[in-house]
Amino acid sequence: MKDILILGIETSCDETSAAVVRNGREILSNIISTQIDIHKKYGGVVPEIASRKHVELILPVIDNALSEAGLELHDMDAIGVTYGPGLVGALLVGLCAAKALAYTVGKPLIGVHHIEGHIAANYIEFPGLEPPFICLVVSGGHSHIVHVKNYREFEILGQTRDDAAGEAFDKVARIIGLGYPGGPAIDRAAKNGNKNAINFPRVFFNDSLDFSFSGIKTAVLNYVNTTIQKGNNICVEDVAASFQAAVVDVLVQNAVEAARRSNSDKVVVAGGVAANSFLRAKLNEESQKYGIKVFYPRLGLCTDNAAMVASAAYYEYIEGKFAEMNLNAIPGLRLGER
Ligand code: KG4
Ligand code: ZN
Repeated sequence: MKDILILGIETSCDETSAAVVRNGREILSNIISTQIDIHKKYGGVVPEIASRKHVELILPVIDNALSEAGLELHDMDAIGVTYGPGLVGALLVGLCAAKALAYTVGKPLIGVHHIEGHIAANYIEFPGLEPPFICLVVSGGHSHIVHVKNYREFEILGQTRDDAAGEAFDKVARIIGLGYPGGPAIDRAAKNGNKNAINFPRVFFNDSLDFSFSGIKTAVLNYVNTTIQKGNNICVEDVAASFQAAVVDVLVQNAVEAARRSNSDKVVVAGGVAANSFLRAKLNEESQKYGIKVFYPRLGLCTDNAAMVASAAYYEYIEGKFAEMNLNAIPGLRLGER
């Protein structure tokens, strides 16, 4: 069978990325230009700045992706682009570039759901991995437990009712002065802290596998304020470790419970928080008890990148699911919605 080459484009938040992927599984190039240093001084992503940076970077990043793959635009079979969810101005930059290029070379355009992209990062990491499986998607904007029934069919078994897991890491890091992005900073600080030092709340719902992380953020804030009011200093490492342990407990218990309820022996983790070292250790430990195998993409495929978008686009391509030229950015696009 002929190889299918897809150019993937991702600009939903603060990473400008383009990649060339063969047959949905093999990376030929994956260029990621991150804006983290720019947004750091504001303590989070500033949407308007993100859009402007994407405008500056998108064409050079696409050029780099093609030249690193040793290919030209004409060699591509299709162009896949994230069209939601994400920041609308940021999404529009990638989408306009993808449409213009697809139109110019007469190749099909494929719209990709950002979360489906995160899930697909695992198809690149594990060439033999196939659905069905349970996926724990934990990023800066999303926390979902998804039953991935096949490449294009998703059932949401649980999701956050307020903050996303990564958002909680970012907000708590800010409270304890660790800066942005909070996830990696808390992960590092927690290694030198005592996770049993402070008992932060773990929220479970009786009848569902939903999450809630806004309470724990408030609990950290209250703890920090009360400690300082008493004239004491907080131990940043202990707060980081105790907070991380509470979030990870909930993520792991719900993910394992989802696998057990669905009779699935595979849990796949995706999104930026999948990079968390304590989550990895704890999920491995807990899954082993039930004979569940756990899959994580390498760190560079956990956070936003265009290779994952090209991989998800491949599974649309082989079903002939192409987008029209009037495809619009949908900031609140729901998983499974098309
Ligand atoms: O998937 P991603 O790159 O962007 C979104 O789609 O949101 O995820 C970014 C999120 C941020 O909230 C960041 O703090 C978190 O992933 N993150 C981590 C770690 N590395 C990144 N959270 C916990 N531990 C980490 N090691
Ligand atoms: Zn993401």
